[in-house]
Amino acid sequence: MKNIPRNYQEYQDIYKFSIEQPELFWQEIADDFKWQKKWDKVLDWNFNDPSVKWFTGAKLNITENCLDRHLADKGNQAAIIWEPNNPKEIHRTLTYKELYQKVCQFCHVLKNNGVNKGDRVCIYMPMVPELVIAILACARIGAVHSVIFGGFSSQSIADRIQDAGATHIITADGGYRGAKEIPLKFVIDDALVQCDTIKKVIVLNRTSTPVSMIKDRDVWWEEEVQKIEALGNPDFLAEQMDAEDLLFILYTSGSTGKPKGVVHTCGGYMVYTAYTFKNVMQYNFGEKFFCTADIGWITGHSYIIYGPLANGAISMMYEGVPNFPDAGRMWDIIDKYKIDILYTAPTAIRSLMAAGDKFLVGKDLSSLKKLGSVGEPINEEAWNWYNEKIGKGKCPIVDTWWQTETGGMMMSPIAGVTPAKPGYAMFPLPGIQPILVDEKGSEITGNSVSGNLCIKFPWPGMLRTTYGDHERCRLTYFSTYHNLYFTGDGCLRDADGYYRITGRVDDVLNVSGHRIGTAEVENAINRHTGVVESAIVGYPHEIKGQGIYAYVICHTPPIDSELMRQDILQTVSRIIGAVAKPDKVQFVSGLPKTRSGKIMRRILRKIAEGDITNLGDTSTLLDPTIVEEILKNHL
Ligand code: PRX
Repeated sequence: MKNIPRNYQEYQDIYKFSIEQPELFWQEIADDFKWQKKWDKVLDWNFNDPSVKWFTGAKLNITENCLDRHLADKGNQAAIIWEPNNPKEIHRTLTYKELYQKVCQFCHVLKNNGVNKGDRVCIYMPMVPELVIAILACARIGAVHSVIFGGFSSQSIADRIQDAGATHIITADGGYRGAKEIPLKFVIDDALVQCDTIKKVIVLNRTSTPVSMIKDRDVWWEEEVQKIEALGNPDFLAEQMDAEDLLFILYTSGSTGKPKGVVHTCGGYMVYTAYTFKNVMQYNFGEKFFCTADIGWITGHSYIIYGPLANGAISMMYEGVPNFPDAGRMWDIIDKYKIDILYTAPTAIRSLMAAGDKFLVGKDLSSLKKLGSVGEPINEEAWNWYNEKIGKGKCPIVDTWWQTETGGMMMSPIAGVTPAKPGYAMFPLPGIQPILVDEKGSEITGNSVSGNLCIKFPWPGMLRTTYGDHERCRLTYFSTYHNLYFTGDGCLRDADGYYRITGRVDDVLNVSGHRIGTAEVENAINRHTGVVESAIVGYPHEIKGQGIYAYVICHTPPIDSELMRQDILQTVSRIIGAVAKPDKVQFVSGLPKTRSGKIMRRILRKIAEGDITNLGDTSTLLDPTIVEEILKNHL
């Protein structure tokens, strides 16, 4: 692949080229892929509509790039190595040839069950190889996949199915996560009570949990596959897709109550994830790459599946959680498979660090060459522990900043090529043009400055729209500042010109690397019959990065506040999912509001953070005494 720097000077040269001639830069990278027809034009764009089109007129199928083109020279090399939740269960390896065959097989299953090009398919599955097969089969037949993280509730699933107008669901009877068994099919059945667009549900047997199968709607994965085996497993010719056809929808939280369906398209997303993977990780053939994310989030989409597979890499996939059966599990996996590159989240690093170094004893981590971090700011202590105890001081660490909307990594050190500094995303990757702006949208130039982070030029992996509501996409990302994509993040550029992400500047929380909208949690709490109003803010949490602090007004002060707290947590779990449960619930008789009725979150945030010495000006509040009451009882 072209435009991969091997030293700092090369990075600077390539970066300069990518800014001066972006179309040529991306064209040289795109030339490396298998296109059924090449593009007429590399880029067409404006950030006003917004309308962004990469590789217009080009035809391709992303799975030909992730599978078919590796068959000749890597057919027998592992594509996916899968480690089960239970260390005693046997692991599985799927070579590129086997993965290709299984994807073709499942394409026939989808077709037999009435899935057509352009249909939306919701996938709610455990972290098993069949999840990868399901995703790639959708992509191969041209259906749009929308994966829903296993931690979301039936209500959240129903919302997403309805928003996407999905016609099919692929799920499993259940899933294993640590000591827990998750009743996936049961949750789906609950969700489907509210959804009438679903024609078929394909159910994989993972846990052999008894489930109810609805006549003419639900079919077993295994039985459907057998029908294709009986035909001798014919190949499946990949559907021809336009570069700008939809590849997938992934729902993510924003500052309003309703999650948005972020849309990624075939050509640009492929080029972008493949390039950033190869470049940032400096991936060499044969290296084993272990991304610990769940495929229900963008990191799993881009860096367990598409980026690595488009490069013919070996992608490690783990079904369970890092601390099961104990906090040594990740190190066992690295030792067992001799992993070369580990890509994980600060929350995992902090929780394994907190468990103590005894879990590292006897674990051979000498195979590790490169380390990565993603999803949230990494604090210096965790960075240093990761560097010393895991990387043994010899592995470069890449702190990759990006978002569901960006499709792939945007700012990051390049492993072993560009400098790194704890907690810093350092530099933009080639092709990325960041800019810091002040509240009014004026560019902040020079160093030792901070502002709101925007991007001023398109990149192939960027979102194209929010599904079914283009205006929302415009309003959320392209209207705050003229002609700029607004990330929602604050950012610092230090004296050396190094970038550091300082966190969200909107009402989005980042809890254990999971993105949660405060409005969503408030809406959920407010649905409890006993609740009048609530306000959610984040506070620093030692392990999770941010914790969720809820201030709740009840109709009458709760007689048993512990019971009421439990009730509220249940409500949030039911409406959103366990991921959004508040860590702290404080019952209050009122909220600090301005005379116009706006909640002064700044004050609530300070109290939640325990920073109560200087609450700023409270004189504009409708009722300043409420602050004293909240302060007195704060948790
Ligand atoms: O605030 C930034 C934070 O996570 C947000 C994006 O969340 P999501 O779309 O769920 O994607 C996570 C995986 C890419 C960003 O707006 N974030 C992500 N990576 C970093 C980060 N904050 C600091 N440092 C990072 N490396």
